[in-house]
Amino acid sequence: MQPMVAPSLLSANFGNLDADIEMVNRSVADWFHVDIMDGVFVPNISIGFPVLEAIRKKAKKPLDVHLMMAEPDKYLERFSETGASVLTVHYEAVTHLHSVIKDIRNLGMQAGISLNPHTPVNLLEEILPDLDLVLIMTVNPGFGGQSFIESSYNKIRKLRTLIKETGSQALIEVDGGVDLENAPLLVKAGVDVLVAGNTVFNSENPSKTIELLRRPVRSIT
Ligand code: DX5
Ligand code: ZN
Repeated sequence: MQPMVAPSLLSANFGNLDADIEMVNRSVADWFHVDIMDGVFVPNISIGFPVLEAIRKKAKKPLDVHLMMAEPDKYLERFSETGASVLTVHYEAVTHLHSVIKDIRNLGMQAGISLNPHTPVNLLEEILPDLDLVLIMTVNPGFGGQSFIESSYNKIRKLRTLIKETGSQALIEVDGGVDLENAPLLVKAGVDVLVAGNTVFNSENPSKTIELLRRPVRSIT
């Protein structure tokens, strides 16, 4: 099992974003993870459309856009125009998830739903076949550099079973506190995509760290 890796630009150097984008372009990373925070859904504000647009112009890999915002349904078209390949909304922020997922797909993007640490995976049972991705938050959303919540492994295993049972093709992505120690355990538990901010951008050799995160892991079965 070889995971995909999506470095989170939230931990990049915003004073010289081009250099970090270039590093990711040249690395073995699969996607750019871009966090959009509105100061309402989460207690932090990150970036908006102008910066996303600038990232898109330099990035040579798909943009995996994680919306930590209230009423994301109002901006789906803008995010599609700004070049998002994967667009993930929070379960806790959307009332009519089924129709939002349909709209995201109709705009030509892959559709994801993210779950906060307290939200159980079985709430996704009916919608799983319509999803391209489920993003499990392994910290409380809003900030980089927090500690991984250990109970997440169980949640990932439950989701893997549910995906199998429902015949869903959805990828499992984890976000928050991912490091070189827990990465192989997460992959063994069933994770397909590892998001990592602090671990990548605050390491001595970010491109090597991406390579280490992306190492194949032997299956338990
Ligand atoms: C947190 C964001 C993450 C963040 C992860 O709310 O969604 O993408 O950048 O950062 P690390 O990997 O440092 O925990
Ligand atoms: Zn994120």
